[in-house]
Amino acid sequence: VADDLEIRHVDIAEIEAFNRSMVTTFLEDVSTIERGLPWRRRLWETDRTWGAYDRGRVVGTLRTLDRQFTVPGPSGAPCADLQVDALTAVTVSATHRRRGILRRMLGDSLAAAHDRGDPLSILVAAEWMIYGRFGYSPAAYWSDPVIDRRRSGAELRVPATGVVYQVDVEELRQLAPAIYAGQRTTRAGQINRVDALWDGILLSEYRAPGDREPTCIVHEGDDGVDGYLSWHATQDFGWVKGGTIAVDEVVATNQAAYTALWAYLFGLDVVEHMKLERRPVDEPLPHLLVNGRAVQPSYVGDAVWVRLLDVPAALAGRGYAGAGEICFEISDDDVGGYGAGRFLLEAAPEGATCRPAPERTPDLRLSQRALAAVYLGQPAFRHQHSAGLVDEETPGAIARADALFNTALLPWVSTGF
Ligand SMILES: CC(C)(COP(=O)(O)OP(=O)(O)OC[C@H]1O[C@@H](n2cnc3c(N)ncnc32)[C@H](O)[C@@H]1OP(=O)(O)O)[C@@H](O)C(=O)NCCC(=O)NCCS
Repeated sequence: VADDLEIRHVDIAEIEAFNRSMVTTFLEDVSTIERGLPWRRRLWETDRTWGAYDRGRVVGTLRTLDRQFTVPGPSGAPCADLQVDALTAVTVSATHRRRGILRRMLGDSLAAAHDRGDPLSILVAAEWMIYGRFGYSPAAYWSDPVIDRRRSGAELRVPATGVVYQVDVEELRQLAPAIYAGQRTTRAGQINRVDALWDGILLSEYRAPGDREPTCIVHEGDDGVDGYLSWHATQDFGWVKGGTIAVDEVVATNQAAYTALWAYLFGLDVVEHMKLERRPVDEPLPHLLVNGRAVQPSYVGDAVWVRLLDVPAALAGRGYAGAGEICFEISDDDVGGYGAGRFLLEAAPEGATCRPAPERTPDLRLSQRALAAVYLGQPAFRHQHSAGLVDEETPGAIARADALFNTALLPWVSTGF
């Protein structure tokens, strides 16, 4: 039987069928769909939502979000913010897989992002092999640590300052956005959180049945509230047998808040293990402890993937660690081919410019994917060169490019999307 396939934008009136198809393909619980609809309606944007329909039934879903994304700032300065295209809700029903439906939907959404002038598109990938052909590269990583509180030396070796106190979730809902905004600009790779997302994270009416209300703690230093955390006991926790708590977030805008929030967690009685998700790979926590091996990653993997849609805008939009020029010859054989060209980056502490430069001899030849992989500052061009992905035409150009692009802290995203 031939397909009768249509790819088109999805009206909000069709939200339930759209979500049923997406939730099923994501192997989530379809009985939660109705409960989630009021929240999902708040986030709906018809012209950024694509559906694939076969004989009127939804068989594919895709959405993009309009998000602010931190990119490296000039040396020593906070990160800069770029408006980007954030891809999400990508599913194709198992009944219709590998017939090119994703290729058609994502081709359309990337073209729309390019036409809008978004300098880049970002995503978090379910599987590594899906998105390279569309030009995306992993550009930031995250870690899920487990902390063993029973291990000898699982205690802080530095004193905490300021005060910590408990607030209810409604109060944290008021306080958290400003604290999160303060932390966000300390690393590249972080997206902003819109109001509906904050409500979904914290407020009880959006909590799934059976999910526990988190305990919320804030830190107050000399200049006011500057950090918060939230945690909840896992189902297996018991007062006699002990157990594990899940720490949902630790958000600190300065070192004093960071230390004091961890001091609170390491002071909880009865807790044997603490597990966290989506932490930076270079989390400084082990260095705060008498025995840093109490912190062990249970998972480390790729987090944000980046696809450059407008190379000059993306390169001029971030800051650099010094002054210098690099001419890039970029190939782009992936869907859309938006990154191809020869471009001259002129970086200086006060700002950068980037323009097409057909008259120049290139210093580095590489694919758009290789450039996207280093765009947030890590890993280095040297790594890409070791993998055979960058050709150095001018001796010393890789070292010069690394000196400009590298950042002191690894990029990180703490918010799934
Ligand atoms: C991943 C998914 C969206 C792919 O949709 P699809 O319509 O089957 O993809 P397409 O047919 O358009 O495939 C395009 C190309 O990508 C390849 N591809 C797609 N998914 C792949 C995967 N999971 N692993 C490896 N290759 C994959 C196809 O083989 C095809 O290659 P080709 O161009 O060389 O022929 C779909 O399988 C799915 O919904 N999976 C479960 C949910 C999920 O993982 N969603 C992604 C969330 S980030």
